[in-house]
Amino acid sequence: MKDAAPQMILLSDYEAPDWRVEAVDLSFDLDPEATRVTSRLRVRRVAGSPGVPLRLHGRELERLRLEVDGAAPAADAVTEDAEGLLLQGLPDSAEIVIETRLRPAANTALEGLYVSGGSLCTQCEPEGFRRITYFPDRPDVLTRYRVRLEADAGRYPVLLANGNRMEAGELPEGRHYAVWDDPFPKPSYLFALVAGDLACESDRFVTRSGREVALEVYVEYHNRERCAHALASLARAMRYDEEAFGREYDLDVYMIVAVDDFNMGAMENKGLNLFNAKYVLASPDTATDSDYVHIESVIAHEYFHNWSGNRVTCRDWFQLSLKEGLTVFRDQEFTTDNTLFGVKRIDDVQRLRAFQFPEDAGPLAHPVRPDRYAEINNFYTMTVYEKGAELIRMLGTLIGRDAFRQGLDAYFERFDGQAVTTDDFVEVMAEVSGRDLGLFRRWYTQAGTPRVTARTGFDAAARTLRIDLQQRTPPTVGQQDKAPLHIPLRIALLGRDGRRMSGRLGAASAADEWVLEVTAASQSFQLSDLAEAPAAISWLRAFSAPVLLDAGQGTAELAHLVAFDDDAFARWDAAQSLLRRAVTARVAGQADTALEAILTDAMATLLDDAGVEPVLLAALLELPAHRELLEWFEQVDPIAVHAARTQTERAVFGPIAEALQRCQPEVASTDNGEFTAAAMGRRRLLNQILAMRVALEAEGAAAAAARQYHQARSQTLRMGALAALNDAEHPLREELMEDFERRYRDDPLVLDKWFALQAGSQIPGGFERLDRLLHHPGFRWPNPNRVRAVLGPFMAANHRHFHQEDGEGYRRVGAFIERLDGLNPQTAARLVQPLTRWRRLDPQRGERMREELERLAGLEGLSRDLNDMVQRALAPEPESHSAG
Ligand code: BES
Ligand code: ZN
Repeated sequence: MKDAAPQMILLSDYEAPDWRVEAVDLSFDLDPEATRVTSRLRVRRVAGSPGVPLRLHGRELERLRLEVDGAAPAADAVTEDAEGLLLQGLPDSAEIVIETRLRPAANTALEGLYVSGGSLCTQCEPEGFRRITYFPDRPDVLTRYRVRLEADAGRYPVLLANGNRMEAGELPEGRHYAVWDDPFPKPSYLFALVAGDLACESDRFVTRSGREVALEVYVEYHNRERCAHALASLARAMRYDEEAFGREYDLDVYMIVAVDDFNMGAMENKGLNLFNAKYVLASPDTATDSDYVHIESVIAHEYFHNWSGNRVTCRDWFQLSLKEGLTVFRDQEFTTDNTLFGVKRIDDVQRLRAFQFPEDAGPLAHPVRPDRYAEINNFYTMTVYEKGAELIRMLGTLIGRDAFRQGLDAYFERFDGQAVTTDDFVEVMAEVSGRDLGLFRRWYTQAGTPRVTARTGFDAAARTLRIDLQQRTPPTVGQQDKAPLHIPLRIALLGRDGRRMSGRLGAASAADEWVLEVTAASQSFQLSDLAEAPAAISWLRAFSAPVLLDAGQGTAELAHLVAFDDDAFARWDAAQSLLRRAVTARVAGQADTALEAILTDAMATLLDDAGVEPVLLAALLELPAHRELLEWFEQVDPIAVHAARTQTERAVFGPIAEALQRCQPEVASTDNGEFTAAAMGRRRLLNQILAMRVALEAEGAAAAAARQYHQARSQTLRMGALAALNDAEHPLREELMEDFERRYRDDPLVLDKWFALQAGSQIPGGFERLDRLLHHPGFRWPNPNRVRAVLGPFMAANHRHFHQEDGEGYRRVGAFIERLDGLNPQTAARLVQPLTRWRRLDPQRGERMREELERLAGLEGLSRDLNDMVQRALAPEPESHSAG
């Protein structure tokens, strides 16, 4: 029988480890078919806990040897259970030797030791180390590692592990070895090794204090020419961490290895990062601007973990956001200051609203610091990552820049070499700032997106503005009652001339921007000394808190913000609000033509305004994503939402199609393929306008797309042209898709873009296309990038087929996920996410989707990862849930 309610791990059960591992010596005799691992552990009982057994985690291991202080332990001293081994009756300190045998070639889960291409590599976070050897595989056990690797010298000339290489040499029978030593004690999840026949592209970096660091990127030989951007990004990230955060690198070498088969984006193993090749390799012909930006930010993210995660690590996996939220915040700051500037915040908020808000409102809702889990792999979520980063940003807003930086310094210094909690982090921030952050902590423990309602009244005689605020967080699974949070609301007032007005908040001196600290369910503020009634209020500037705000603003006020707001986010958000209202009116069956006309005027003005940067203009023109629009309905037909979105786009932009075209000069004459912020911004605008013109079926738009495709000097414009045509039943689409496939058929990472377009296209015949993709010579079930490239866009973009009314799309997805689960549970569990939102669809579709989930739930042999997701998706929802 299947276990419907899997075993829960609870935060409240946390106990500090009873045993320390003082050092570990690992020896690997590497072979894809049979690898032997010998582990020598020096363990010591922590004072004050005599008699407690030693827990060694282990999973799917073949045990060849177990010795304690040189002898086999008595039979009754060793218990084996589902978690691994329990050793009883040990002396206070002991040397344990364990030998295991692994079969990396058969490991399709891509956790532990596995084969990718011709290389052997590892992925240990969060619990992969226990698939390599028996060990206390928990992040609060920090150990010094010494690693010896031995392998066939011809097949695996490169042998890498964490830290510094101490020794290497030849062995009989064509074998060789290398010994690595990592001087920094680390948890097992940061362990890594690589053996392969790889090219090394290198550079050097001198740290602020003069340490020389070798930067090395390892890739397959044919990819040697595609490493320059990764190397340059790494050096930029290292410099930035010194300058912006005062953090320096601490080893003599920093290695990045690109592998084709990887469950995630990348992994921050100490001194030896492993990367999905997608986030390393780039050349102008193969990578888009967005690929370049992602590569830079993932490289920075993993580098920043060296302090936020590695030097200071997590006590337990409930504290995951301690490292991930903080590191996402750090990489966001980096990308803002180096590459994207103002538009970065817009991109991040868009993602948060499209993915984290729905998570927080659905069956997978959980706090930033969860208090229970069945499978930790399923908690690497938008909430832990992106909302977690928002909490860090809010702390900065509340305590101020200088105190925040001081707090970070104190955090890294005080907890260096330790495994700590999110409470420890907030505590340091409270201490350095002298602020009471007691209420703020609730953000970590309470799930759900707060709704903030704002109403204002201007008193002309007193020249004051009264602001009444209310907050409420709807119930989420397992958390019925919600309490108020500490919310920083950044606001400004715009006068009729569009400029910021000056005024005073309470007794403070005059200013033209304020942070209102909302701490109660209902609260009022007053701004005084105002020259006139504000023409518009710029709310939630720079998105100062992850909340849903209802400020009751009228069309004219929002249009004023679109025209004048100097905060790029707030300006964009005002445009989004207007566009969203126009779409929702159409979903309700009643186009708001007056609103659409105002939008047309506002957009025309923006198109003529030379003062608006191209990259911001591109964002301002964009309609809210389908994914995000769905959130505004309790239950909705997703195909109707798509249709309403398209109709709104036509209604708003149809009348100004010519103005759009004027903004889109011929590509060949304007784009030089450079990777500067300005050039990337221009390309983003070119692609945005081209896509809109094709969607409007504007005169000559398809031909313009074809010209852009052929003349493009960058993959950005080539892909942009292809993407613009993707939903068009136009012969040019077929022609260009064939051309693209021919051009890149031997380049899997580029072919993934083609897979994504084919799977995401809404032109008729979607199921046949899906079948053809699955039988395409470039498709491989064991490769996560391939399966994601096909299934992801099918669910995210191909509304017509995924949501086909008879449920065929859901059944296709279910069958796909079932098959994938047999190979790679972690990837299957991630991809099933769109099926968990069945309650928000119209009842007919919701029922079809639920049936597919039920079918999956009933399967024998479902992985723990997928089972956990399916069970949570089907569990009853909290009472009085409301989409708000
Ligand atoms: N530590 C994670 C990688 C990871 C995630 C390992 C889940 C095991 C399970 C890494 O630092 C990370 O967060 N990577 C992200 C990309 C990053 C830029 C947010 C990823 O892999 O998606
Ligand atoms: Zn991370």
